[in-house]
Amino acid sequence: PFDKVPPYRVKVVEYTTPTTRSQRRELIKKHNWSAPNLPAEYVYVNMCTDSGTSAMSDRQWGAMWLGDESYFNSKSWDPLQDVLQKFTGMAYVMPCHQGRSGEAIIYETFVKEGDLVPSNCHFTTTRAHCYYQQAEPVDITCPEYYDENDPSWFKGNIDTEKLKKLFIEQGDRIGLVELVVPNNLCAGQPVSMANIREVRQIIDKYHKREVIFCLDVARISENAWIIKTHEPGYQDKSCLEIVNEMLSYADGCHMSAKKGGLVNMGGFIALRNKHYWQKMHPKVIRTDGYITYGGLAGRDLESLAVGLMEGVNDYYLQDRQRQVDYFANACRKRGIHIIEPASCFAVYIDAGKCVPHLDHTQGPATCLSAQAYIEGGFASTAMDSLQRGRIDVNNPLDTSKRIKAPYELIRCAIPRRTYYEPHYDWAAECLLRAMEWGNKLPAFKPIIDDRPPLELSEIGLHT
Ligand code: F0G
Repeated sequence: PFDKVPPYRVKVVEYTTPTTRSQRRELIKKHNWSAPNLPAEYVYVNMCTDSGTSAMSDRQWGAMWLGDESYFNSKSWDPLQDVLQKFTGMAYVMPCHQGRSGEAIIYETFVKEGDLVPSNCHFTTTRAHCYYQQAEPVDITCPEYYDENDPSWFKGNIDTEKLKKLFIEQGDRIGLVELVVPNNLCAGQPVSMANIREVRQIIDKYHKREVIFCLDVARISENAWIIKTHEPGYQDKSCLEIVNEMLSYADGCHMSAKKGGLVNMGGFIALRNKHYWQKMHPKVIRTDGYITYGGLAGRDLESLAVGLMEGVNDYYLQDRQRQVDYFANACRKRGIHIIEPASCFAVYIDAGKCVPHLDHTQGPATCLSAQAYIEGGFASTAMDSLQRGRIDVNNPLDTSKRIKAPYELIRCAIPRRTYYEPHYDWAAECLLRAMEWGNKLPAFKPIIDDRPPLELSEIGLHT
């Protein structure tokens, strides 16, 4: 029945703060017309991110009471270690306080100055770790992603032809390959098992030095659900079996457990190679804490051990996808353009199509997202050229120099076990009302004055 009804019910609720339209207008103006900048208290439906925003279960809260807060070898590490080994199929596991702290350790260990780090599209933090190591992130997303009419389910794949070519031409510069499953910054599109398998084969055949193949697994369980339902040969497998197979092709992985781990804080690293794991110990101790707690309290370890397994449960995942699809349909029904297919953890609005009078230098997603907040307290994250262009540090104020993103996206990420159908309908309604302003919706203009260079202004959203 879980394709129709959630497999859980509500035990604790959190009240939201009502706001008026004029308050919302003042608030968003004060906070640079950017929903993620708002004080969260004044957001009614918050879809800025699905990271750390999920509701924990009674089992997780119960497990927290068992937390052993000893510094060395806390007893709470034992159940988590077991679960991590079972989830990843890897013997050597280490907790860390969130995704990026685990990534920092991996990048420090495997990436050298002058390296290239290919990926289907780095998340912001692994990209930053590349630069920090004086290496270069290389994003090679598959061509299907750039074709808005392509109906395939795995538009988050890496372009294996380009990967092969990169290995042949510059393999001596590659020591780490990173696949983000699913591909968050490319409209959350999933990655297929076939693609992961092929990357393994390419590395085995073309490597010129030792290469670590790593998966960024923040939302791997949700990706597994798409493989189960859309990739031939997997429909009779459990999502845990699918996760195990995905990871069987990799040498290691890092997870921000704040997503699929169903916790508010936490992460981990897993590896096959004992030597590398030992090599990471001093780094983890320097930045996160002892190797059996990695910056987490004993109670966090306990709740993650429960949450990770709840998050890979097939009935839970079926309901999760049902919620994403419900919101996607609420948008489609209202004529709001979304990236198809809808992802497995978020719906990405194609703002370029919703407000076609604004070009990529005018921040169509930033504008539409700000107006949707004014309409009804709905917060989302703009990921448009205006945001991407900020990396042109030499010319931050020259809009014509802003790098054009493939799509002008608004990410509406769906927190887990948190919202219900009326919230999704309300969120879609806010986007519709914002979109209905049509060409009256104004463009953003950069401020040319002595303020810090990246501030933005606009010429008056609708009250
Ligand atoms: N990898 C992916 C794919 C992510 O989406 C994130 C975080 C991280 C790594 C870093 O994990 O935040 O625990 O340090 N994504 C959040 C988001 C912030 O909103 O998508 P972290």
